[in-house]
Amino acid sequence: MKPALVSGIQPTGKLHIGNYLGALKNFVELQNTGKFQCFFFVADLHSITEEFNPKEKLKQVENLILDFLAAGIDLKKSVLFVQSAVSAHSELAWILNTITPFGELRRMTQFKEKTGEEYETTNVGLFDYPVLMAADILLYSAKFVPVGDDQLQHLELTRALARKFNSKFGNTLFEPKPLLTEIPRLMSLDDPTKKMSKSRPEGCLFLDDEPEVIRKKIMRAVTDSGSEVRADREQKPAVTNLIRIYSAMSGKNAAQVESRFKGKGYGEFKKELAEIVIQGLAPFQKRKNELKKKRAAIMKQITAGNKKANMVASKKLAEVKKKTGLV
Ligand code: AMP
Ligand code: TRP
Repeated sequence: MKPALVSGIQPTGKLHIGNYLGALKNFVELQNTGKFQCFFFVADLHSITEEFNPKEKLKQVENLILDFLAAGIDLKKSVLFVQSAVSAHSELAWILNTITPFGELRRMTQFKEKTGEEYETTNVGLFDYPVLMAADILLYSAKFVPVGDDQLQHLELTRALARKFNSKFGNTLFEPKPLLTEIPRLMSLDDPTKKMSKSRPEGCLFLDDEPEVIRKKIMRAVTDSGSEVRADREQKPAVTNLIRIYSAMSGKNAAQVESRFKGKGYGEFKKELAEIVIQGLAPFQKRKNELKKKRAAIMKQITAGNKKANMVASKKLAEVKKKTGLV
């Protein structure tokens, strides 16, 4: 049997190129190697830990499914499903809760970033989020989990929980490893010290952005002092981030980009970068527009993905329940 690979994305709005270059593009490449049994899902149970409108949620789920497919996820090669359609995720999360130390969750960086000092009014789901994520992964006995580096801490917890469960109840859960891309953390266009994130839309390039919007955002992106187009994380964090985008979208490495813009300024570099991004996103955007017309038929197909995921997950859950003495 091929090793399993699992990853999910939350349906919380438009995807940006950080999601794409840090995760989704890698999902497609890994799928196309044919070496893995791939499970990809829409993490809707995770997404309700933040403010949301129930009328919008299903639309967001559907939109993310179209994003997955437009990026190249192929229903013949991968199982694509919706997390809330597979109840084993919530059930295993509960069982794992009982072996998760409170202190581990309190230390989670993402939790601290999302709550600030507002502990008293924060919902418990947000606190428990990493345990649900562990369940997502362990149900499929994933060997690999492709993610951006903001998820590494959650992956460490997943590994720790698998070990703890196994040592308490006998060998049952498989310890997964993260898989990062060359851009595990793309920075914001308006502030290279902050991660590109939906919570700072002004610093994001969204996969759906129109060419004019992309040009405007890139021309406005902050740069560093000096005028040389050179990758240097310490001295030139903003330009280095832009060079990374250029490299990932063009297939040229940083040295090739540097030599192409030798003696030319930031302006020329940014102009060309914008065109590279526009061209790079065009096939995605074209496919997405075509897929939108087949929305209803696609959602029917996802039911088959939900079914397959349910089969695998419920088997693992049954094993876990048996080991723990549950019915
Ligand atoms: P999310 O939208 O938070 O569900 O993230 C989906 C995937 O994109 C996860 O694997 C994240 O780690 C990854 N990701 C999010 N933001 C970035 C970023 N700025 N750079 C690289 N990867 C990212
Ligand atoms: N927590 C991830 C994020 O915010 C999404 C996610 C949920 C996930 N469950 C997962 C990613 C399981 C990988 C595996 O990006």
